[in-house]
Amino acid sequence: MVDDFEILASNARIILDSRGNPTVECDIFTSYSMGRSSAPSGASTGKTEVSAFPKGGAAASIEFFNKNVKKAITGFNALDQKGFDELLREIDGTDNFSAMGGNLSTALSIACAKAVSNGMGIPLYRYVGGMGISVPEPLGNVIGGGQHARNGTTIQELLVSAEGKTFLESITVNSKVHRRIGEILQDRLKGQGIGVGDERAWVAAIKDEEAIDIVLRAAKEISSETKVKIRVGSDFAASSYYKDGKYVYKDHTFTKDQQIDFAISLIKERGFFLLEDPMDEGDFDGFAAITSAVGSRGLIVGDDIYTTRADLIRKGIEKKSSNAVLIKVNQVGTLTSTMEAVETARMAGWKNVISHRSGETTDDFLAHLSVAFRSYLIKSGTVGGERLAKLNELVRIQEDLMD
Ligand code: PGA
Ligand code: ZN
Repeated sequence: MVDDFEILASNARIILDSRGNPTVECDIFTSYSMGRSSAPSGASTGKTEVSAFPKGGAAASIEFFNKNVKKAITGFNALDQKGFDELLREIDGTDNFSAMGGNLSTALSIACAKAVSNGMGIPLYRYVGGMGISVPEPLGNVIGGGQHARNGTTIQELLVSAEGKTFLESITVNSKVHRRIGEILQDRLKGQGIGVGDERAWVAAIKDEEAIDIVLRAAKEISSETKVKIRVGSDFAASSYYKDGKYVYKDHTFTKDQQIDFAISLIKERGFFLLEDPMDEGDFDGFAAITSAVGSRGLIVGDDIYTTRADLIRKGIEKKSSNAVLIKVNQVGTLTSTMEAVETARMAGWKNVISHRSGETTDDFLAHLSVAFRSYLIKSGTVGGERLAKLNELVRIQEDLMD
């Protein structure tokens, strides 16, 4: 059995992500199986996440692979995922994968797990998650801007999450909200200045407050049409508009205290159920002020503040900075480190929200990991092929689990 999972060969190549930028795809071959995976890229990256590529970009990653990785992983037992991930760290030799790039390590790490699950003839979610797994609810970006678009809102993402009876019903209702928002914007702007961002959320030349009103209105309308409960939330990605101690929106500027009050008001007065990165990534205390004010009424999710790092999540737990964490594999670069982050959050009673990146590939490993990690939500857009690759896979997984 062990011999069957010896790595016999591997490849790394450049493919394009959904923005048309180069990223890395890897194949790992064992005697009877193959695993293939590709890594996405972010636009609003956290300061503490690993670098996606070394100096020289994706091409330098491939060069590093051919020179330093290919031979070193040949003969390694793919069943030992932890050992494989440690080996990648050793080969890289830096503390942030800056020699090989976090996207290469991510693609290799996931390809290794896929080679084993394929060889065993079990789904990736079962191999990584064992028993007691569950299907998350979808959380999808419907209107926004920030680093994902020009001329959109300052807030990066306004999100919806339908609570359907099945995953299919939930994603169907989320996409109906997306469509309704398109109609409302068309009516309001007569086609002038409307577009879509990197994740296919609507982008429009309107103020943040108006975008919030439109999402709440569309969610209410679609909810009464479909009789499905729809929750509204937001990823402020606040680090991207934090300048000189202030939060600079396109039409006004907030002090730190005003930003905290604004975040709390969205939950307490506008009925938002979730806020991600409401404060700058360094502001653990600002996060904590919001988390304690909203109590159990809202999920405060940390993305850029933790960058899927167990040590930073531990700091957040000590400071009570949030009650949930965003999980992105390529922020830390290996499956093992990601599992440590998920486990650290779980032990503190935090929920995890697994997430796509703005520059995605059609790899659906995220769907499998969302089930393996018992994620409360999966953030993977509402429409668009690379987003639906994950969401549609969850329709199949739910079918599997119901058999
Ligand atoms: P990114 O943003 O993938 O562009 O980093 C997504 C997010 O902030 O959640
Ligand atoms: Zn985010």
